[in-house]
Amino acid sequence: MIDNATIDSRVRDALPWIIENRRDIHRHPEKSGQETRTSALVEKHLRELGVEVRTGYYNTGLAGIIRGAHPGRTVGLRFDMDALEMQELTTHEFKSTVPGMMHACGHDGHTAMGLGVARVLSGMRDELHGTVKLVFQPAEEDAQSGGGAQYMIRDGVLKDPDVDLMLGMHLWPDLDLGTVGTKPGSMMAGSDPFIITIKGKGGHASMPHSAIDPILAGSHVVTALQSIVSRNIDPFEQAVVTVGVFQGGTRYNVIPETATIQGTVRTFNEEIRLKIRDRVIDVATKTAAALGAEAVVDYRLTYPPLINDAGVYEAVKKSIQSVLGDEHYAEVARPAPGGEDFAYFANAVPSTYVWLGYRKPGETPVQPHNPHYDFDEQALGVGVRVFVRCALDLAQGV
Ligand code: NI
Repeated sequence: MIDNATIDSRVRDALPWIIENRRDIHRHPEKSGQETRTSALVEKHLRELGVEVRTGYYNTGLAGIIRGAHPGRTVGLRFDMDALEMQELTTHEFKSTVPGMMHACGHDGHTAMGLGVARVLSGMRDELHGTVKLVFQPAEEDAQSGGGAQYMIRDGVLKDPDVDLMLGMHLWPDLDLGTVGTKPGSMMAGSDPFIITIKGKGGHASMPHSAIDPILAGSHVVTALQSIVSRNIDPFEQAVVTVGVFQGGTRYNVIPETATIQGTVRTFNEEIRLKIRDRVIDVATKTAAALGAEAVVDYRLTYPPLINDAGVYEAVKKSIQSVLGDEHYAEVARPAPGGEDFAYFANAVPSTYVWLGYRKPGETPVQPHNPHYDFDEQALGVGVRVFVRCALDLAQGV
């Protein structure tokens, strides 16, 4: 059994190297699905550490496998690698060297933590029970392509050795630096976009009786969509239906042929997720039909709700409390309405997702996806301690 003092001292020794890697990755942000430099850097370091490497999981995705000397379970740890198309506005000497690209969600920190975990755990193989699989994932930010997680699973990342359970982590502005939090059950929202095309019949604005007005029909559809959460969902459940785009028409005196509505739905369990999908399709098509128009609904189920497994949550909570102390574990009250494709892993094997705090007393933390996004790099040491403790405990089944 490896004690916390050993973990703390190994992580302290590794932290400057972890930070150096984080800054290197931060300087060279890459688009979702095109993380070739980052992936190569990870591979190089894993090989130097003597970690078995598997590549070819959805383009740039790769896995490092650390086999312990003793029997146990296989634990997957997930680290996302992609950046965002936005211009960095920080003044760091290590700021992005790629115009219009920035690590503004902390995935540079996540990837660097993965390297830190590899470095610390690869030196503990003699005492490790079971196997740890480090999953470096592309394209977390690209929900439109379906995200990297589900394609890594398709390409076999959870096989050989078969992953029994998984842990994911995200830097989090609403928890204090030094604190890690999670909760049982729903942790992040399912996030599903829709596009509704309302087909009418164009005509002269002065003769609406000989046309079918898609703007009027679309207006009723937008209004009726707002009845779904208020009338069809249990008031003790949560969901969001938002229309963000309503486009139609080119001139004040022309009734157009079509109008377009685009929106997003956020849900926290699969039952409500599918219920809202069915209601959006039904409400849109029937409302439009009542007004003589036709609604064609393109509804996409992208990232599912992220649900923490009860058993893994209990074990992870205990491990966090053990390595950080009870006062640095936060029981989170509510899930977050953002989407996260770790949900695909959580649907495949029992999993838990945790938040790594970077808020400092007296300061307002910069939110992710902001051009000034920043976090205190000491958080990375905290995250690696948690990953290592959890991996050791989960693999051993304690
Ligand atoms: Ni993120």
